[in-house]
Amino acid sequence: MPIPLIDLRRQHRSIRKRLQSAIKRVLKSGQFVLGEDVARFEREWAAYCGVAHAVGTGSGAAALHLALLVLDIGPGDEVITVPFTFIATVSEITRTGARPVFVDIEPRSYTLDVEKLAEKIEREYVFHERIGYLVNRTTWRRLKAIVPVHLYGQMADMRPILELARRYHLRVVEDAAQAHGAEYRMEPEARPFKAGSLGDLGCFSFYPTKNLGACGEAGAIVTQNAAWAERLRRLVNNGRADAHQHLEEGFNYRLDTLQAAILRAKLRYLDRWNERRRELAALYREKLADVEEIVLPEEMPYGRHVYHRYVIRVPDRDRVRRQLGEAGIETAVTYPVPLHLQPAYRHLGYRPGDFPVAEACARTVLCLPLYPELREKDVARIARALRAALRSGR
Ligand SMILES: Cc1ncc(COP(=O)(O)O)c(C=O)c1O
Repeated sequence: MPIPLIDLRRQHRSIRKRLQSAIKRVLKSGQFVLGEDVARFEREWAAYCGVAHAVGTGSGAAALHLALLVLDIGPGDEVITVPFTFIATVSEITRTGARPVFVDIEPRSYTLDVEKLAEKIEREYVFHERIGYLVNRTTWRRLKAIVPVHLYGQMADMRPILELARRYHLRVVEDAAQAHGAEYRMEPEARPFKAGSLGDLGCFSFYPTKNLGACGEAGAIVTQNAAWAERLRRLVNNGRADAHQHLEEGFNYRLDTLQAAILRAKLRYLDRWNERRRELAALYREKLADVEEIVLPEEMPYGRHVYHRYVIRVPDRDRVRRQLGEAGIETAVTYPVPLHLQPAYRHLGYRPGDFPVAEACARTVLCLPLYPELREKDVARIARALRAALRSGR
């Protein structure tokens, strides 16, 4: 029997009754746009993340776009993020008219390298007293924000990021698309913060394969700021303040009502599912800890990993991947080409070698199957097949 990378059918089978009754409720109500399920999901998601407000959106990309817009980011501005992420993190910066600026990731967490971030800011920007922003010494654009990406289910090291942001008057938009329920501790014994709740705004995708996934496209923005939340709620709905008043132009970026109902039905399982992902990740570690050639995912001491993806690094990755495929094991590579080397970003002027960690990860990362319904015997089989593939290459 082949082992797929992810199997949503199994998840949906296990909660079929709840999903069906959520869908029936919406069909019966006849309300397919906004309404009670969207409003309730927003409240429930805000409560889950430990923030005051959540605004549903049509996708994670829409969430990022609007989060940057409410911070007045646009032409003449720069936003720092990483080159090792899904393209939407960067394309939504560009969409505002701002210029994305990359800082490399660090190799243990695969997230923004905070030392390189500080170095870049100090080397390339100067604080402009009159306008109150850091200004790029070469491009003369204003640096407005940092977008850390919590990749594969683990948060970036937020404390130093927030300290730099405070020092230099920068906003922080968390890309938490892959980190529903991941946590961060400011101090070893302190209470943990949920992904999305530490920056000025946090953005989520509920793409079907995410830890909390819709049965279609969906996303959300979370924030503690009531004024931003109010404006976001207008912006997702064509700028509508009420039935006939548009305070500004907005977008059709609404969270779909059926998706909101489905997300509400699934949210109650998220912690259980995340816990199961962690157990399976621990099992992978147990089975693979002695394999010297590979690098296993590491949980950073500051946080709680929710293993959106189980990503290892392997030499000769493409051959290993092929052999796993021949053994009936589906894998994925996220991401084989870092964004600074994508044709879409040629105009930014980056070259191979500019972000060596992202480039090395792009050559070696391999995502193994991981989802709450994966069986322990599947993990054992994957580990055996991986060992065999590595042996045959020696
Ligand atoms: C890190 C990251 N950012 C942004 C997005 C965009 O989310 P969506 O696909 O819902 O637009 C994704 C989704 O794949 C993602 O993984």
